[in-house]
Amino acid sequence: MAHDFSSVSLDWLRNKPGRKWQQRQLPFAAWIADMDYRPAPVIVEALQQRLDSGDLGYPNWGGTAGASPAIASFVGWMQRRHKWGIDASDVREWSDVLQAIQTILHVTTSPGDRVVVHTPAYPPFFDALKATGTQLMPVDAVRDGESWCWDHDDLDARLAVTPAKVLLLCNPHNPTGRCFSERELRELLEIAERRNLVIIADEVHMDLVHAPHRHIPLGTLASDRVVTLTSASKSFNLAGLHYAVSHIGSASVAAALRALPERLQGEPGMMGVIAAHAAWSRGEPWLDAVRAHLTMMRDLTSRLVHERLPGVNMVAPQATYLAWLDCSTTPFGADAFRAFAGVGVAVNAGTDFGPGGAGFVRLNFATSPVVLEQVVDTMARAFTR
Ligand SMILES: Cc1ncc(COP(=O)(O)O)c(C=O)c1O
Repeated sequence: MAHDFSSVSLDWLRNKPGRKWQQRQLPFAAWIADMDYRPAPVIVEALQQRLDSGDLGYPNWGGTAGASPAIASFVGWMQRRHKWGIDASDVREWSDVLQAIQTILHVTTSPGDRVVVHTPAYPPFFDALKATGTQLMPVDAVRDGESWCWDHDDLDARLAVTPAKVLLLCNPHNPTGRCFSERELRELLEIAERRNLVIIADEVHMDLVHAPHRHIPLGTLASDRVVTLTSASKSFNLAGLHYAVSHIGSASVAAALRALPERLQGEPGMMGVIAAHAAWSRGEPWLDAVRAHLTMMRDLTSRLVHERLPGVNMVAPQATYLAWLDCSTTPFGADAFRAFAGVGVAVNAGTDFGPGGAGFVRLNFATSPVVLEQVVDTMARAFTR
């Protein structure tokens, strides 16, 4: 079945009830990480079937010890799509990735401990650190030609003097869209081993990689220090359904979680389970189609930014539908976010992404080519005001 991601209309978008198009009250919404597309028909059908059953009561998953069917489909997905053979008994479900991050930080750190994060970083990471009373140990991104990199030798040297407890890794990386290479991941694993760090690997953007780049799950290289968190919510645009999974390779983290009261850890809602199961068991054709579309949108974004936004610099992301735009040499500098809001486009302010974010904005290009062109042309007006 052909999927059409190019014909979303502005009228339809502006009537969408979710946060992306309603909260900022601006003519164009290119901020929060939701795509502008309808979900995969196989997911809508699965949810509709449940609604039609007339039963929204406590679910009965059957299966082994009542395990949700999404766990088995996740195991199959990781094997087929990411060449990672995992054991279902190491997988557990969460309400969402951020809930899992918060809980795992809670059991792996004490107030005052340091947590290593590659910055700039997804803003809720900072909230999770704040809520656990832990301190940020940033690894600053460095522009490396047409890519971004981080100095891991320097990180190792700093850790020798100032220890940390956890590396909270985001791979593929939000907001730069970098996919860490096998060499970089092995460096991080060696550092974690030498400096005794647990690695929480947030791999929620794992499926949205632009060829020839490739996502390498950290757990395929070594897993006994690693907790991998991911979900179908970015790949399949399901964030409102709240469902995530973890693969816990670290025995000490697994034991610490077992010691927490089960109810404190929550569980996903039934519709989240149904959607993730449908995505991971029958969603591949849709995902392949959306990925091809997003790669086309990324290339269009690079071209439009280059041609129409003077002084704005963009490194094409290797993954994600998020463009990290360097506006530091424009007349707006650190105020670019406000300048674009002033002409009617909601983007994310770079300063929210912590160290290295000032002077940047994050633009979400998961829309249609026509809408994207309107977004960029509207942003261009900020330069002629
Ligand atoms: C890196 C990263 N982690 C986590 C999330 C949020 O995941 P969830 O909605 O499952 O908490 C996002 C959403 O954009 C993200 O980019």
